[in-house]
Amino acid sequence: MIVVLKPNISKKDEAAVLKEIKKLGYKPHIMRGVARTVIGAIGDELTHQSLESLPNSFPKAIESVTPIQKRFKLVSREAHPANSTVNVRGNLIGGKKFQVMAGPCSVESEKQLMTTAHAVKKAGATILRGGAFKPRTSPYEFQGLGLKGLKLLDKARRETGLGIITELLSENHADMIAEFTDIIQIGARNAQNFQLLIAAAKTGKPVLLKRGLSMKIEEWLLAGEYVLSNDNPNLMFCERGIRTFETYTRNTLDLSTIPIVKKESHAPIVIDPSQGAGRADLVIAMCKGAVAMGADALLIEVHPNPAEAWSDGVQQVSLELFAKLMHELKPFIAAAGRE
Ligand code: E4P
Ligand code: PEP
Repeated sequence: MIVVLKPNISKKDEAAVLKEIKKLGYKPHIMRGVARTVIGAIGDELTHQSLESLPNSFPKAIESVTPIQKRFKLVSREAHPANSTVNVRGNLIGGKKFQVMAGPCSVESEKQLMTTAHAVKKAGATILRGGAFKPRTSPYEFQGLGLKGLKLLDKARRETGLGIITELLSENHADMIAEFTDIIQIGARNAQNFQLLIAAAKTGKPVLLKRGLSMKIEEWLLAGEYVLSNDNPNLMFCERGIRTFETYTRNTLDLSTIPIVKKESHAPIVIDPSQGAGRADLVIAMCKGAVAMGADALLIEVHPNPAEAWSDGVQQVSLELFAKLMHELKPFIAAAGRE
């Protein structure tokens, strides 16, 4: 249920409404907008008393109570009509300024990471990506540097001022990852690992939720609900391609998710063209398409020497190609009404 409060109601009246919502068995989530405060009251309407008569009890405080029609509640635009923004070290994702997150697939060494960090910063990226714990198909392939990789990311953050995004693979690592990162990435393989989503949400760090390899959009939005319903408002969706019959590309990057997620949700949408196409030669075109279609940010794999990369070599762009990409994106960003 969406409970819209009247403008300028007193703190005392607001507290009384919240108390009543809790008493009736619902969990209230407060969303403060510029003009109005809205409460998303989440609970099972089949087993609890309906909230629809609440305005009768609080006529001075409540403007309206309406049911949320969608299965995803807090993620929906019905609950939160304005776009949400996620603040990462002063950079707003979902705001006017288009954001680029870039860096290697895996953190391999100090030299590799620092070279990449300085180059992507120079080209205009604001957030550095890098996997320290890697979800590999084969247990015999490089699994990431672990804690050593996290410490290198932290060093790069201190040296460059870039924000950090890195993947969380296990609930046991949630606190450790949160100590070294600004955004927790939940990868495609774990997009419906609900306990992991809850653990990520509970760290309080922004969460970037990738779309699962064969996940329907509604399932993805519902997975995002695990983050928002665990008191973490900083959620971003990331489309990274889905499995189809096509073999020209590693995955099929579904750019239709941009207008769909924008229509259904207030959360920012990020596009990963690297996993999406699985081919470095397609990255620039995919990025241009994503910007033109209204994405809020990009997540791009960049490596000083892709041919020698310890993971995902074929889809990582070189430092030179990344600089060219950033240059070529400028008119697309302007045409999309972004900075
Ligand atoms: C990067 O290392 C990812 O974990 C990778 O895309 C997983 O795929 P792979 O292990 O099949 O190469
Ligand atoms: C990654 O970004 O390193 C990654 C493994 O991506 P995905 O979860 O999209 O495969």
